[in-house]
Amino acid sequence: MARKIIAGNWKMNHTFKEGTKLIEALHRFYNSENPQHVEVVIAPPFIHIPMGATLSANSRVTIAGQNCSEHEAGAYTGEVSAAMLASAGAEAVIIGHSERRALFNESNDQLKAKLKQSWANGLMPIFCVGEQLEQRQANKHFDTVKAQIDGVLAHFDADTLENLIIAYEPVWAIGTGEVATAEQAQEMHSFIRKHLAEKYHAVLADEISLLYGGSLKPANAKELFSQPDVDGGLIGGASLNYDSFTELIKIGEEVLR
Ligand code: PGA
Repeated sequence: MARKIIAGNWKMNHTFKEGTKLIEALHRFYNSENPQHVEVVIAPPFIHIPMGATLSANSRVTIAGQNCSEHEAGAYTGEVSAAMLASAGAEAVIIGHSERRALFNESNDQLKAKLKQSWANGLMPIFCVGEQLEQRQANKHFDTVKAQIDGVLAHFDADTLENLIIAYEPVWAIGTGEVATAEQAQEMHSFIRKHLAEKYHAVLADEISLLYGGSLKPANAKELFSQPDVDGGLIGGASLNYDSFTELIKIGEEVLR
């Protein structure tokens, strides 16, 4: 069975002081609620990672990067390597978020190299896929997601992919308040699972966690998390706030199975 995961992607939000306060508060919540079914992942900006990892030591909260360099090391000003993330205490990393693809022109070749770096350094990648609005309107959403998966993951074998989480984030639903319906999410998640079963094997397809992302909030989480192929969420806006993120963890704990 796939792991159930509530992951917060802070993007470029929260100063160091605000981030420290939020992670401290999330730990107090986590220790008192002690969720048994869901795992919590927090992906703060790079500079918060050592603080987040120190606060999360000896807890089941995982700290993740939002990105890493495709290079191992060297003259790449402004970049952060997977080895650095791991050495600072991160255990996971988001790869191929639609904002990275669109705003920083990340290509399949770069994403492949980033995945390689993540695995080589013991990080669990959260690989993001999702179609643009025009692709959905043209009924090309399945083909788009399939091409994103095959264009990057085809280069790795099934054993490697056991250490992977996939997040389906329809681009039109990210930060827009426009959420995919539970049916649309379920339909795509089930498509991804079937595709992985055909390409690799059924055990991998069953065990890989498939997260939904895009305007997830407490008001719509119950319905989305109740879908059989939705194993959790990758949450942007609602992860920045203590009340909404802890509410999402509570809903996940109650509904995700
Ligand atoms: P959102 O972002 O929840 O603010 O829509 C989700 C994401 O980009 O991961």
